[in-house]
Amino acid sequence: MSMIAEHMSCIKQSAASVVSARAVALRQQGKDVISLSAGEPDFPTPEHVQLAGIRAIVEGKTKYPPIPGIMPLRKAVCAKLKRENGLDYAPEQVIASSGAKQVIFNALAVTLDPGDEVIVPAPYFGCYTEETALCKGVPVVVETTIADGFRLDAARLEAAITPRTKWLILNNPNNPSGAVLDRGRLEAIAEVLRRHPQVWVLSDDIYEHLIYDDLPFISILEVAPDLKDRTLVVNGFSKTFSMTGWRLGYGAGPLELIKNMTKYQSQSTSGACQVSQWAGVAALEGEMGFAARQRAIFQKRRDLVVQRLGAVPGLEAICPEGAFYVYVSCTAMLGRTAPDGRAIASDADFADYLLDAGVALIPGVAFGLSPFVRISFATDTASLEEACRRIAAACADLR
Ligand SMILES: Cc1ncc(COP(=O)(O)O)c(C=O)c1O
Repeated sequence: MSMIAEHMSCIKQSAASVVSARAVALRQQGKDVISLSAGEPDFPTPEHVQLAGIRAIVEGKTKYPPIPGIMPLRKAVCAKLKRENGLDYAPEQVIASSGAKQVIFNALAVTLDPGDEVIVPAPYFGCYTEETALCKGVPVVVETTIADGFRLDAARLEAAITPRTKWLILNNPNNPSGAVLDRGRLEAIAEVLRRHPQVWVLSDDIYEHLIYDDLPFISILEVAPDLKDRTLVVNGFSKTFSMTGWRLGYGAGPLELIKNMTKYQSQSTSGACQVSQWAGVAALEGEMGFAARQRAIFQKRRDLVVQRLGAVPGLEAICPEGAFYVYVSCTAMLGRTAPDGRAIASDADFADYLLDAGVALIPGVAFGLSPFVRISFATDTASLEEACRRIAAACADLR
C-alpha cells in the first residue's frame, strides 16, 4: 500500500515547472534551449522596493508577522483598491499570503465541501483546477474559443451552473490567453450571476497592470458592485512589481471568508514573510513608473512575437490584450510528421518537437484548451527573435 494519499494521483505537477526543469536539464547537457515558458517578468524588482526589504531586515522586522499580514500592508492594499479600482474595503477584510496562489488555495480550502463545483473558464492557470481537486472539489471547465478572443461566454457560463456550484474563477487579464474582459462581457457575466446567488466570484486580477494599447482594466465589481458580498478579489506583487520570488499576494473580500482563510493560514504556513510584506508596502505606496515602463517593453515584445509567428504558415496567433503570453493555435500542425519520423498528434507532441528544435514552451493541454502552445514573451528581444526563427524553421520541416 502506498504511503501517498489517493488524491495526489488526481493532480498534476505544475506544467511550467516541468517544462522549465526539462529546459534546464537539456542546457546542462550542452543543448542550446531558449525558454519561453516563464510565468515571471525578466526584470529586477524596482530598487525602492528592494531597499524597503533590506531596511526591514536591518531594522529587525524579521519575526513572525500577524497571521493575516502586517497592518501597514493591509492598509496599503485598502488604499490601492480604493485608488485604482474604486473599491471600499476595511483592513480586516484583507489577508496577505505567500503569493496569490496561496490566497486562492486558502479560499478554496475553507469553502469547498466534497463534491462542490468550481467553474473554471479554459484556457486557465493550472492551479485553479488542481487546487480545487486538492480541496476535494470538482472543477467544471467552460471552454472559450479563439474566434471569441478566448472570452467567457455568458450563456456557456449559465449552462455550467448547478446547485453545487460554489465559485466562478474569473482571471482577467487571462493567463495563458491574454484575453481582457470588457465592460459588456462583464455585465453579461454579472447578469448570469445575479440569477444564481449561490455562486461566488474569485476575481484573479494579478495581471491588472499588464494591459496594452491603453485599454482599461475593469473589475467585475466595478460593473456589478452588488456582487461584492460574494466576491473575493485576488491580486499580488509577482507580475506588477516583478516580485515572484518574494512570495506575496493578497485577497480582499467579505469578513467571514477572510476570517476563515486567516484561521486556515494560522494552521498551515502562518503569516507571509514579513520582509516581503514591508517591501510590498513600499511597492503599493511608491511611484508606479516601473509598471508603466515594464508594460511598454512588453507591448513591443508582444507585437514582435505576434508579427513573426503570424507569418508562419499553419500557426494562428491572435494579439493578446494583456498579460505576457501569446496563446498560439497549432491545429494545422496536427497530423504532420517530423523529419525523424515522429507524428505530431497533439499540442504536447508539438511542444516536445519544438523543445528538440531549441525552444521550450508549454502545451495547451496544461491550460485545459488544445491544440495550442503558450509562448511567454517575458524574455529579451534577441532571444524572442531567435526563438521565433527556430519555431518557423521547425514548422517548415514538418510534412
Ligand atoms: C493567473 C495567475 N494567478 C496567480 C498566479 C500566482 O501568483 P503568485 O506568484 O502571487 O502566487 C499566477 C502566476 O503565474 C497567475 O498566472
